[in-house]
Amino acid sequence: LQDEALTRIQQADDAAALEALRIEYLGKQGSISGLLKTLGKMSPEERQAEGPKIQGARGAVSDALASRKDTLDGAELERRLAAETLDLTLPAPETPKGSVHPVSQVMDELAEIFADLGFAVATGPEIEDDWHNFTALNMAETHPARAMHDTFYFPDVDADGNRMLLRTHTSPVQIRTMMKEGAPLRIIAPGRVYRSDSDATHTPMFHQVEGLVIDKDIHLGHLKWTLETFLKAFFERDDIVLRLRPSYFPFTEPSVEVDVGWQDVQGRRVLGGDGDAPGHGWMELLGSGMVNARVIEFAGLDPKEWQGFAFGVGVDRLAMLKYGMDDLRAFFDGDKRWLDHYGFSP
Ligand code: PHE
Repeated sequence: LQDEALTRIQQADDAAALEALRIEYLGKQGSISGLLKTLGKMSPEERQAEGPKIQGARGAVSDALASRKDTLDGAELERRLAAETLDLTLPAPETPKGSVHPVSQVMDELAEIFADLGFAVATGPEIEDDWHNFTALNMAETHPARAMHDTFYFPDVDADGNRMLLRTHTSPVQIRTMMKEGAPLRIIAPGRVYRSDSDATHTPMFHQVEGLVIDKDIHLGHLKWTLETFLKAFFERDDIVLRLRPSYFPFTEPSVEVDVGWQDVQGRRVLGGDGDAPGHGWMELLGSGMVNARVIEFAGLDPKEWQGFAFGVGVDRLAMLKYGMDDLRAFFDGDKRWLDHYGFSP
C-alpha cells in the first residue's frame, strides 16, 4: 500500500490530483486511516508489531504529499514567472491629469488684469444676511428689486434678527470691504452667487466678479475707461465694441448696463455665442454705475468726501464668450469630454 501510494503521489501533476490522493489515503474514510482504526481491535502483541508499520506508512505518505506539493508549487511559480514577463522598455500608461476649470481660469485672468490696474482681491461669505445683500445696498425690505433676485432664503435669522440667505450677487462684498477697510479703495471680489433660476443661460449657482473703486473726484469717465481697458485685455483684442445703456440698480446712480458686440467694427464676428439672438449680436455682460450716496452712507463713509463706481460681471458669461461655449449648464456638469473638447485638459 505504501509503495503504491508513494508512486501515485510522485505522479500527481497538479494540486487537485494531490488533494484527491490525500483524501484517498489519509482522509476520514482513507485506507491508511482505516488501518489505524484496526489497531484498537488487535492484541497488545499484534499492536506492537503492526502499529509502527502503519504509523510509518502514514508518516511516509504525509511527507510525500508535502514534498510533492512543494515541487508542484515551485513549478507553478516558475511557469508564471516565465509567462508574465514585464517589458520595461514599454512607455508607461498615461495617467489622466487634472486641469484648471475654465471658470477658475477666467477668474485668475481677471485677478491678473485688475492687479495691473491696482485692484486688490476682496472676499465675503456666500451665506449672507439680508442686511448686507439688500438693505445696505439700498434695497429696503419692501423694495421691488428684492423680488427680482429669486433668492434662496434660510429659515434662520442671525443674532441681529437679519434673515440669512445665499448671496444673490457679489455686491454685499462692497459693503463689507468699505466697513472694514474704509476709503480709498480699489478692489475686485470674485465668487459664487446663487439664484433660483435654471435654463441654457442661467444656472442656480454662477460666478460674478464685483469691482469697486472709492476715492475722491471719481466720475463716470473712470468707470468707462476701466471697463474698456479690462475687456480689451480679457478678450485680447482692441476692436471690442461696447454698448453702454442707461439702466437702474438701487445701489448705483446713475446706472449703466454694458453689452459686448459679437462683431468687430467691420462687422466680422469676433466672439463666440448665439449671434442670431434678439439684440442683433449684443450680449449683456455687466451692470455698473456710480455708487449710490446712500450705499456709501450705509457703509459708514461720508458721501460728500468719497465717491466711486462699481460693477458686477458674470464670469461664466465671460468664459462662454471667450471660448465660444453655448450652454452654461455644461460648466457645472463635470464632464471630462466637454473639458477636453474646449481644450481644458493638458
Ligand atoms: N449686483 C448686480 C447684479 O448682480 C450687478 C451690479 C454690480 C450692478 C455693481 C451695478 C453695480 O446684477
